[in-house]
Amino acid sequence: MIKISPSILSADFSRLGEHIRELEACGADMIHIDVMDGMFVPNISFGIPIIKSVRNITKLPFDVHLMIEDPSRYVEDFVNAGADIITVHYEADRHIDRTINYIKSFGIKAGIALNPGTPVALIKDLVSNLDMVLIMSVNPGFGGQKYIKYSSNKIKEVRDLADIYNKDIMIQVDGGVDDTNIGEVVKSGANVIVAGSGVFKNNEIEKNIKGLRSSI
Ligand code: DX5
Ligand code: ZN
Repeated sequence: MIKISPSILSADFSRLGEHIRELEACGADMIHIDVMDGMFVPNISFGIPIIKSVRNITKLPFDVHLMIEDPSRYVEDFVNAGADIITVHYEADRHIDRTINYIKSFGIKAGIALNPGTPVALIKDLVSNLDMVLIMSVNPGFGGQKYIKYSSNKIKEVRDLADIYNKDIMIQVDGGVDDTNIGEVVKSGANVIVAGSGVFKNNEIEKNIKGLRSSI
């Protein structure tokens, strides 16, 4: 079963609550929450108070993608804000193994994200202990960018590692996924699809989610 995790980075923040209710009603499987610190990525999005304020309006899991330096500093705060999955960037943490165990110690799921330029081989030894691997298919920081072609090969490489070390792992792809390439992304081995502009374009959430599912 392929899961869709719409990124609220593309939402109209003056109507964030409404949008999240609509995503749930339209069959989204989780809510992808992009946190940016203006250091790890050249953009600042939103943080802990916003997540807390929308936690009670949906039962969907909160899939929190931390694009922040040294993310372990804030893990406990994001757990308390209601995160169900916390994904940290391999590139942002000198002690990624420790941070993964720390996230899991709160009883929630842990993932590692890889920037486009970061090879999959670097996480080989960690895959067995992860709940999710996130392959960034754009350089992180902004919604609405174009899918980087070679990402499909990286997804296949994660799939191969997963087949050996962790069959149940979630393989998430984030960036530039729409109804024209979701088929290729899934065929390569992804099972959790993030989409921001692909879900919110033209303000037609229901139609867009249906369109994504029917293009798989
Ligand atoms: C980019 C974020 C993505 C982004 C995806 O840094 O991590 O989650 O919102 O947006 P689209 O689907 O528009 O590329
Ligand atoms: Zn993201």
